[in-house]
Amino acid sequence: MSSINHSTISEEEAIRPTHVEVDLGRLTENFQAIRRYVAPAKVMPILKANAYGHGLLRVAQLMEELDADYIGVAVLEEGILLREHGIQTPILVLGGILGNQIPGFLKHHLTITASSIEKLCQVEEIAAQMGVRAKVHLKIDTGMERIGVHYYSAQNLLETALKCKWVELEGIFSHFANADLADLSDARNQLEHFLEALYFYEKHSLPPPPLRHMANSPAILQLPQARFDMVRPGLLLYGVYPSTEIPPIVNVRPALSWKSRVVYFKVIQPGHPVGYGSTWRSDHMIRAVTVPVGYGDGYFRSMSNKARVLLRGKQYPVIGRISMDQIVVNIEWDSAYNDDEVILIGESGSESIACEDLAEWAGTIPYEILTNINTRVPRIYLGR
Ligand SMILES: Cc1ncc(COP(=O)(O)O)c(C=O)c1O
Repeated sequence: MSSINHSTISEEEAIRPTHVEVDLGRLTENFQAIRRYVAPAKVMPILKANAYGHGLLRVAQLMEELDADYIGVAVLEEGILLREHGIQTPILVLGGILGNQIPGFLKHHLTITASSIEKLCQVEEIAAQMGVRAKVHLKIDTGMERIGVHYYSAQNLLETALKCKWVELEGIFSHFANADLADLSDARNQLEHFLEALYFYEKHSLPPPPLRHMANSPAILQLPQARFDMVRPGLLLYGVYPSTEIPPIVNVRPALSWKSRVVYFKVIQPGHPVGYGSTWRSDHMIRAVTVPVGYGDGYFRSMSNKARVLLRGKQYPVIGRISMDQIVVNIEWDSAYNDDEVILIGESGSESIACEDLAEWAGTIPYEILTNINTRVPRIYLGR
């Protein structure tokens, strides 16, 4: 075990049995597998939302060691945190900006997403006032209706960008809404729309910005023609496939395990209810263990009476409502002891529980499971 990502607890003091283990070796292999697969396109690993729960800073340090071309985050604060901890790799903040944030971008050498003419002009004005050049990527909306100028009216934005003196127009990008489906017709339309916007440069015999990018994980896997100059893998980097509809073409493995320990053992009498709301009871005597994890850690309450955990290499069900800080697991008449390891996400022998399983039990997607494991859960880094 190497380091722990928690500001106040040293590794020795990290006595909370509930923790996340991040396998840096696997993250490295995943990154390299993606890089080989998309070459010669560049790779911008997406590290937003605490690097999908894996720990923003440590993952960024690893990506820098691996010579990632760019890092993508969602919000200004994520970028500033990385700069304040010495990350020098170019960083694009993917989200929408407000005028009062622009000085922060410029001060910390963060690349700005300009998603409208108005915002681009604000960047130009503030960069001129500060006497610094602003690195900018233009955002084109090709069918997501989130941020960005619509592809059908992008020409004015592209023309305005060419006139800016304080803006270094480094990139132009768009984002897919549906690249994870087996039916790629919507995604192909979006790709066409992006090409339509880019045609502006060809029409005027101008070189396009050097970094054109569009592909998230599902598009990397399903739409090779969407690679352009750079790709933006998030979920795939962490070893999780974005959909069961996509065949496993790139060999990646999950880098994150979530573990805890048994803190209590008891026998429960027939008919005696378990947990808030008394939603579970047995018609026979059972043994049960209590594990110190709950929805206060991001172990979703909606998985109550559905989730399973791994204990001594076997799967057992979570019974009763998931509390804020505790769950109860039915081990029927098997044996378990205080301090036994409990795996919430991860592998044990031939058994495994994936974040996709938790997503199914919670009625959500793996992205939400990973990004919701909160900061109360210490991260421990293995390998490298
Ligand atoms: C703009 C942008 N690019 C790339 C990604 C990475 O997506 P994925 O995790 O599906 O690879 C995201 C994540 O939502 C995103 O918002």
